[in-house]
Amino acid sequence: MSINEKLKQIGEEAKKTISIVDTIHDLNNEKARYLGKKGLMAEFMKMMKDATIEEKKEIGKASNEVKQLITKLLDERKEYIENKKVEEKLASESLDVTLPGKISNVGVRHILNQVTEELEDLFIGMGYIIQEGPEIEIDEFNFEKLNLPKDHPARDMQDSFYISDELLLRTHTSPVQVRTMLEYGGKEAIKIVCPGKVYRRDDDDATHSHQFMQFEALVVDKMTTLSDLKGTLLEFAKKLFGDDRSIRLRPSYFPFTEPSMEVDVSCSKCGGSGCNMCKGTGWIEVLGAGMVNNNVLELCGYDSKIYQGFALGMGVERIAMLKYGIDDIRHFYTNDLRFLKQFK
Ligand code: PHE
Repeated sequence: MSINEKLKQIGEEAKKTISIVDTIHDLNNEKARYLGKKGLMAEFMKMMKDATIEEKKEIGKASNEVKQLITKLLDERKEYIENKKVEEKLASESLDVTLPGKISNVGVRHILNQVTEELEDLFIGMGYIIQEGPEIEIDEFNFEKLNLPKDHPARDMQDSFYISDELLLRTHTSPVQVRTMLEYGGKEAIKIVCPGKVYRRDDDDATHSHQFMQFEALVVDKMTTLSDLKGTLLEFAKKLFGDDRSIRLRPSYFPFTEPSMEVDVSCSKCGGSGCNMCKGTGWIEVLGAGMVNNNVLELCGYDSKIYQGFALGMGVERIAMLKYGIDDIRHFYTNDLRFLKQFK
């Protein structure tokens, strides 16, 4: 084989072997194999040590060309391997925007809180402010100052959880009204709503719960009359149950109001003609109300010859049940997500 053929053969081999190398590590091995101190080109040069000067000149030129070729092949392959690495990295990091996203579970405010807030908004819109008080209350504020002295038979209407003789879980949010009247010192007008949890020693069933939520309102002023109460109740009924609702007042008894009344709202299902929801009467009992009893005003520091007022109180659960057609009060407390999620 001629020297030129031999060189050509090395060049051809380099083209083949370098073109299939895939890693920089293997490429370095190839470099050493062809161009290293003990590589093929070095071997080749050694074999030529006995050539004539003329021959050496020619061989030198030709072998340089092969070395340049191999160097070029190595460089090109190196660039190719590095580019491929970058491309693979980019491909592995690319986003597939067609994949379905993760659905995050967004919570819902509890329906009782939603109804409470709706009531708050309604009354705030009429100039009321919100007052809150403790759930553990003293007998004096829960009963006595509301015209319910010890041994008053009407205490039976609100079976109570007593903690001691003088301490109990409040049975209504009316003690917040007592606290406010005492705080205002019998001088200023009052216009408040009192939302909150209350407790009664009831057996739990579809319409009773030993813990529930109330929403009460109190207005005390020098010129407050029953017609103010009536207007407020009508506004409440229309805003909460629909514009074409009307109201009906029936005489009732509460120790803290005189006169006292039960308030009915015309049935939102049948519009008043009678159906299963209103038990054929066309009316649904919704809340209790009345003009603040003079005794209560006096016990709480207001001169009943100058001041008068009205109060109303409702159960938030009952309002929510009527508004959304819920038939069992226990749904509110059992935390079944299928129930709770309906009220988005
Ligand atoms: N506090 C009464 C109750 O819980 C409700 C009520 C409030 C009635 C105001 C009339 C006036 O039974």
